[in-house]
Amino acid sequence: MYKSFHCRTSRLLYLLCASFLLLTLSCTGVLASHGQEQPEKTGILLVAFGTSVPEAQVAFKNIDSMVKKAFPGIPVQWAYTSHIIRHKLAKQGQILLSPAQAMAKMADEGFTDVAVQSLHTIPGEEFHAMFGTTRAFQKMPNGIPHIAVGQPLLSSAADMSAAADALLANVPKERKPYEAVVFMGHGTPHPANVYYPGMQYYFSLKDPNVFVGTVEGSPTLDDVIKTLKARKIKKAYVMPFMSVAGDHARNDMAGDEPDSWKSVLTKAGIECVPVLKGTAEMDNVASIWIDHLKTAMQQLKH
Ligand code: CO
Repeated sequence: MYKSFHCRTSRLLYLLCASFLLLTLSCTGVLASHGQEQPEKTGILLVAFGTSVPEAQVAFKNIDSMVKKAFPGIPVQWAYTSHIIRHKLAKQGQILLSPAQAMAKMADEGFTDVAVQSLHTIPGEEFHAMFGTTRAFQKMPNGIPHIAVGQPLLSSAADMSAAADALLANVPKERKPYEAVVFMGHGTPHPANVYYPGMQYYFSLKDPNVFVGTVEGSPTLDDVIKTLKARKIKKAYVMPFMSVAGDHARNDMAGDEPDSWKSVLTKAGIECVPVLKGTAEMDNVASIWIDHLKTAMQQLKH
């Protein structure tokens, strides 16, 4: 009788203890899944189109060090939006992540706050796709609760004016005012292509012989050549209006193929001087991206 009483008491105690333990565990479990108990961890994700040209990497290295200088101690992760470039690099043993892979990695590493900075030039297809992808991680269970996305280089009239000033400061000093400068933009069928004729307007306010052409949009190189001929311009400095001096700059702009900008301009009687420098190599242009990242970091504050 005594024995059975003792048994019942200990069983009761055991049950009480067990249920208390379960309650405690389930409480912390719920809290953890709501992210309340997770310590705050802030990171930066830099998203570029990417490049497979090793010499073009100087541009990304420059912006990487500028970001680390502006935000000391904050981990910086990179992602490339271009599937083709990532696969090309993977074959050479270089693993670059997509924006989705990078966000998943950062979520797994416990980041609670991520500022995603676009290193694109315009808010076109690449930007909007990565915007949607990265923001989706905010709604995901075990995702990243706080996400802010920084605008690409050009997202306002102020950006265009600042970018025009910054780019003009990088034109080779030997260029004479009667010689032209032609910036080669990528161009796109996306409505954001308007930033290229937009830049043309801001350049023309500052220097009448500076032009914008695009590879895949408007204005075209033919549009630019028409104006150069009308003004009887005999020499043009040609510079990429892209973050890196990659494949487009080295081949489509400065290459020896008959359809390169250098060949087409030369054939039109205009001496062509290609300048192989990506805009992310230029500190004053890169600082516009850094400003946009600062805005995104401010938006993270909660
Ligand atoms: Co392209």
